[in-house]
Amino acid sequence: MKNFIVVLVSYAFLFTLMVSPAAAQPETKELVEKKCSKCHNLNRIKKASKDTAAWEKTVDRMIKKGALIPPEEKDAVIKYLSALNK
Ligand code: HEC
Repeated sequence: MKNFIVVLVSYAFLFTLMVSPAAAQPETKELVEKKCSKCHNLNRIKKASKDTAAWEKTVDRMIKKGALIPPEEKDAVIKYLSALNK
């Protein structure tokens, strides 16, 4: 019985980690909301459903256009964006 509870709790914990990658990074969310809403609104981002590779290309394109994403934040931003529309 005790083992069962331990397994159940571990699964619940893992499940929370899997379903909420976006919620796990509030700073990245804030960064995206601030920097990516300068030229177009966030609906453009919410509507897009891309995988990590596609987001990487898009974020690079936005940076070339003038999006102010610090290089050390780029990976976190791409990870956040690919988790948005799952
Ligand atoms: C300097 C202005 C600017 C900033 C800042 C900017 N964008 Fe854009 N974005 C554009 C323009 C212009 C377009 C339309 C032309 C195009 O798609 O290249 C666009 C289009 C898009 C599209 C739709 C096209 C596609 O490839 O799906 C998405 C998604 C997008 N931007 C995401 C972002 C994200 C995420 C950020 C923050 C990292 C961001 N943008 C910041 C200018 C900007």
